Amino acid sequence: MRPEDLVHFCAPGRLIIGCGARRELPALLERLGYRRGVVVTDSYFVNNTPWVRELVDASRALGIRYFVFDGGEPDPTTTLCNEATASVLRALDGQMPDHVIALGGGSNIDLAKALCLTLPRGRPVQDFIGDLAGCKPLPLIALPTTSGTGSEATPGAILLDPDNATKVAVMDNALRPLLALVDPEFTYTCPPRVTADAGIDALTHAIESFVTLDSALYERGSCVDPGYSGRSSLTMMFARESMRLCAAWLERAYTRGDDTQARIGMSYASIYAALSYGSAGLNAGHGIAYAIAGQTHKSHGSTNAVILPYVIDALRDVRFPELLEVARIFGITEPDGYAAVRRLPVELRALVARLGIPTDLRSFGIEEASRDALLRDALGVARLAKAFPVADIAAAYEGIIDNAWRGSLAGDHELSIV
Ligand SMILES: NC(=O)c1ccc[n+]([C@@H]2O[C@H](COP(=O)([O-])OP(=O)(O)OC[C@H]3O[C@@H](n4cnc5c(N)ncnc54)[C@H](O)[C@@H]3O)[C@@H](O)[C@H]2O)c1
Repeated sequence: MRPEDLVHFCAPGRLIIGCGARRELPALLERLGYRRGVVVTDSYFVNNTPWVRELVDASRALGIRYFVFDGGEPDPTTTLCNEATASVLRALDGQMPDHVIALGGGSNIDLAKALCLTLPRGRPVQDFIGDLAGCKPLPLIALPTTSGTGSEATPGAILLDPDNATKVAVMDNALRPLLALVDPEFTYTCPPRVTADAGIDALTHAIESFVTLDSALYERGSCVDPGYSGRSSLTMMFARESMRLCAAWLERAYTRGDDTQARIGMSYASIYAALSYGSAGLNAGHGIAYAIAGQTHKSHGSTNAVILPYVIDALRDVRFPELLEVARIFGITEPDGYAAVRRLPVELRALVARLGIPTDLRSFGIEEASRDALLRDALGVARLAKAFPVADIAAAYEGIIDNAWRGSLAGDHELSIV
């Protein structure tokens, strides 16, 4: 809260959180005047849960009709999006929907976001990469089933470009969902692997946005409606609470998926993290993780997890007060703050291991010969690199990748001296 701060906080149009809240959706949509929609989901939800059928039946009774597209896949590609556009348009036979509902994890939500752009125009999604000023997508209602990506609150859809194995983003504040409905019961069926990968993604969002560039320093160019614009006391408030919830419930949700309190805790952790990073933005963790995903094709959450401790380690001087706060949230009680901050990445790495994820890049499948390409690709995600709050970003990325490849943290040496 300084004179130079400029808070640009963006969120979904409405946010509803509650166990069983999904049952209120048809009546709410009817009240809002929606009559014809497309549900974007995947076969798991159609075949193994009652949620799609319940939504369609209760809506039909209120005069709202749906076409269900259940061809969603993990990490959707631009090809999948273009095929889905063609097949949904064929099925709609010229009758444009007035809204889209996404049911699923970040993958289905991202696919639905992209369809909100492509369906009304019938154009390939690649046409929408870049400036979307003035573009009016269909309204999106996002029902997340993982805790999570937070895509239900963010301005972006992340798609894999199969031509060069990188992730591309379609991004604009207009893509933020009209409504995010977080029903923790949706997450009760998540298997442990999905729970862990999504949960560490939420924690990475919270920590990374807590230590990212200040809003006053964020490079916005001439954009008056930035999707991401640096951290502020407002975003940090959500990040702090998200970290507290992750520290309390992440491991429990992974080891005891039937613990409803843990599931609810992680549902809140995920949306709070999204309310932080969805305006503050992210930096090196996600930037390097995208490059790791390009080489390994492993899940989004696990690529974040393997690099997170090393990114935090690189910030221990420049973000000392913030990381001391994080260390205390994670129960690190050493009275010496310097020691506590060096211990934090060590504890985070131990958490990553307990979640069943490799803790160094070598065991994650990165070849030594590929490290230069990894550095180049990570720095290539310029919107994330420029938000890393250090003087020499390229040197910092190189050091992080080097340490992550060897599995080396500053706190390791300290512990071995002790
Ligand atoms: N747009 C954004 O702001 C944003 C942010 C972070 C990540 N992402 C993207 O999100 C994707 C990852 O999403 P995710 O981690 O939520 O996983 P996911 O959506 O890829 O789902 C992984 C698997 O879990 C299954 N699944 C999901 N929910 C389930 C449930 N409740 N019960 C049983 N199975 C369930 C899915 O069917 C799928 O097979 C990546 O593609 C990533 O790029 C987007």
